[in-house]
Amino acid sequence: MNKKIELIGLENFPLIKAGDNIAQIIFKKLNENNISLQNGDILVIAQTIVSKSIGRIRDLKKIKPSKKAIEIYNRTTPKGKKVHMPIKSPELIQAILDESEVILKTEHVLIVETKHGFVCANAGIDKSNIEGENNICLLPENPDEEANKIRSSLKKLTGKDLAIIISDSFGRPFRVGAIGVALGISGINPILDKRGVEDLFGYELQSTIVGQVDNLASAAQLVMGEADEGLPVVIIRDYKFDVVKKTSISAILRDKNLDLFREKASEENFIDLLKSRRSYKLEFSSEDVDKKMIEECIDIARWAPSAHNGQYWRYIILEKSKLRENLIIKMNEKLRKDLLNDGKSKTFIKNKIISTKNQFLKAPFLILLCLDKPNFEKYPDPDRNQNEFIMQIQSVSASATYLLLALESKGLAACWYCAPLFTKRIVKEMLNLPESYYPIAFFTAGYSITTPPSPKRKRLEDIIYNINQ
Ligand SMILES: Cc1cc2nc3c(=O)[nH]c(=O)nc-3n(C[C@H](O)[C@H](O)[C@H](O)COP(=O)(O)O)c2cc1C
Repeated sequence: MNKKIELIGLENFPLIKAGDNIAQIIFKKLNENNISLQNGDILVIAQTIVSKSIGRIRDLKKIKPSKKAIEIYNRTTPKGKKVHMPIKSPELIQAILDESEVILKTEHVLIVETKHGFVCANAGIDKSNIEGENNICLLPENPDEEANKIRSSLKKLTGKDLAIIISDSFGRPFRVGAIGVALGISGINPILDKRGVEDLFGYELQSTIVGQVDNLASAAQLVMGEADEGLPVVIIRDYKFDVVKKTSISAILRDKNLDLFREKASEENFIDLLKSRRSYKLEFSSEDVDKKMIEECIDIARWAPSAHNGQYWRYIILEKSKLRENLIIKMNEKLRKDLLNDGKSKTFIKNKIISTKNQFLKAPFLILLCLDKPNFEKYPDPDRNQNEFIMQIQSVSASATYLLLALESKGLAACWYCAPLFTKRIVKEMLNLPESYYPIAFFTAGYSITTPPSPKRKRLEDIIYNINQ
């Protein structure tokens, strides 16, 4: 039972820079403030000074935004303007992406799950209380570890058993106003499980779990302040708790399966992804694409439905090479010949060929999709055999759609091209493909600096045929 607890701000704390030893500075300031630590004291330390001391500062000017960051910038800027919130630059968005495991919401703020598992706005990246116009402050990579280090150093310096909370302030869903939260802890359990304890009327509590360290971080926040108070360390005294050796903030993070809100967020993300996929026929940026990413996308394309679960798709990854260049040239010669035979004008042919040819030549990756035609004729009549073939085509097309969505989800610009279908023989011969392979399509993949405008879609009522009887 805590009848009274005390909060003591450590005054005259200096500005922290990379390499500073936080524990030693705290010890020095305790002496200057004539404060002796006691067993069971809890030190709440602002995350900013911990991050600064370990050099978790980034210069926005040195960040190169990816296509995904630019796409989010284009999407979120109007939303930010609408609610008069500060606009995040593509560089800042990139920094947020770099710190995040999952992007849950892209509104005027980005709600993300950080690599630690914290769900918060903008990956906890801070601009306030940081020197340097373009500098931003990132959360420590392992706040528990930082808390452990400070705790054991202070134990050596003072001989006292303490608890450490590295704190930040997060906004909350449903309520206005940021409050203190614990990011990293040492020596104290993050939660107090009150289940099984009797209430005032003798009823057994069924589900009460107290967020002990968040409560303490919030209490300390009252002394610490947000802006220029300059009190980044607060001692909490006379709070009764069990000092524990091993603990981690991860115990306070809600199990994803029990998180009622996450599902909706991911569903929205999924719909966003479906609607934001575009056919990129624009210039590729010079940024290198990791082949592993392409393989990961093909891995996702394996999960498409297929008739008889036949999985008829085969993917051939073509990086830039002399062979690929020669193939593109040969394919274009065939297209030119076909169009000449069709009686098309030279200008028409030139225009038709040039842009696609350039896309193929310049794409960091060309992915060739083939149908591996099973060698069995199941039916005696050609009509049903034809239907089987159509089902195989439908199946590889489903896989191709998965591929395009996977590429889009990784921020890669892609487009589906039918050219190999019209040049099957050339493709097969030049790439020395097995006889059963039936070339279907090319997919270009790379990074793009710009996003194409949203193409027109037919109205819903134009594509739903109602039978009203
Ligand atoms: C089967 C198929 C073949 C396509 N072939 C080409 C092509 O040869 N050249 C091209 O520029 N775009 C091609 N596209 C891309 C379409 O032009 C594009 O999907 C369409 O204009 C809608 O734009 P969106 O993908 O951005 O929604 C193809 C798309 C599909 C599904």
